[in-house]
Amino acid sequence: MAVFLLFHLFLLMSFTGGALALKIVQVKVPLAALIGHSVQLECIYSLDGDSLYAVKWYRGVDEFYRYVPAEEPRATVFNLNGIEVDLDESNANRLVLRSITAETAGRFRCEVSAEAPSFETVSGHADMTVVQLPQRGPVISGGKPRYSVGDQVDLNCTSMRSSPATNLTWYINGEPAERHHLKVYPIVEDIDGLETSMLGLHFTIKTRHFRKGDLKLKCTATLAALYWQSNEASAEPDRPVHHQRSSSSDVYLDSNSRSTLASAAFTVHFLGSLQRSTLLVSFALVSVIYFVSLS
Ligand SMILES: *[C@@H]1O[C@H](CO)[C@@H](O)[C@H](O)[C@H]1NC(C)=O
Ligand SMILES: *[C@@H]1O[C@H](CO)[C@@H](O)[C@H](O)[C@H]1NC(C)=O
Repeated sequence: MAVFLLFHLFLLMSFTGGALALKIVQVKVPLAALIGHSVQLECIYSLDGDSLYAVKWYRGVDEFYRYVPAEEPRATVFNLNGIEVDLDESNANRLVLRSITAETAGRFRCEVSAEAPSFETVSGHADMTVVQLPQRGPVISGGKPRYSVGDQVDLNCTSMRSSPATNLTWYINGEPAERHHLKVYPIVEDIDGLETSMLGLHFTIKTRHFRKGDLKLKCTATLAALYWQSNEASAEPDRPVHHQRSSSSDVYLDSNSRSTLASAAFTVHFLGSLQRSTLLVSFALVSVIYFVSLS
């Protein structure tokens, strides 16, 4: 028993004494990456006197990138589905992946090893999912050319092909529609994994629904994802990073004929900002506004 304890103590001492030099400080991987975009992964480590032998990146158990400063060329890439390394932008601390596909997703591990005499190896990991924003805003269907008090509104809001499926919300004059006015449809998944969500809105028009002659119905599709995570506590403040993508399209139907005024606004925002020890929420917001005027 005493020998055993002593052995333990020895291990502990050699660990805290000799082996403290090399350590992973942080592995920074975006929690969600956008399909078709590039993404930057960071492996932050402290050598503290040791010299670097190699940095290796794995997805799951498969190594796909190796950086060995003493070799020429320093960087080697191994083929892996959904992995396209940008060699010019990648180095001992940073890895840039281009043209993200659904297959890129997984657990990314960075393994750092030191030169002689310590030959130490440490590693850290973080998971990345892949997000596909919908190509266009949600589509409202089933609208009639004109509505009057007492009419039944029966509409569908469909958000096509995203990953994961978007969350749909209906608004009546800016207020979220009551639950009993909604019809929730199951999410439809295509063979390529992209998902379509649909939400129905059903209610009977009352006088109070018309404000200044208009009834405004809006459907929004949101897709929220945590934008980055780290499996280690951050030791230094990070630079804020902003991505924004925005587009809009407006559709106006003839408002003075039998058709009612319909306006569709489509906006996509993708915002991500990094702050120390905060998990940030990024979102895509897609909305369609549908006006129905009393004629
Ligand atoms: C909404 O979609 C459902 C399912 O496809 C369909 O049965 C229904 O008729 C649609 N309603 C409207 C108003 O388009
Ligand atoms: C949809 O909303 C639910 C509940 O608020 C949330 O947990 C989920 O992450 C959302 N999904 C997306 C794709 O934004």
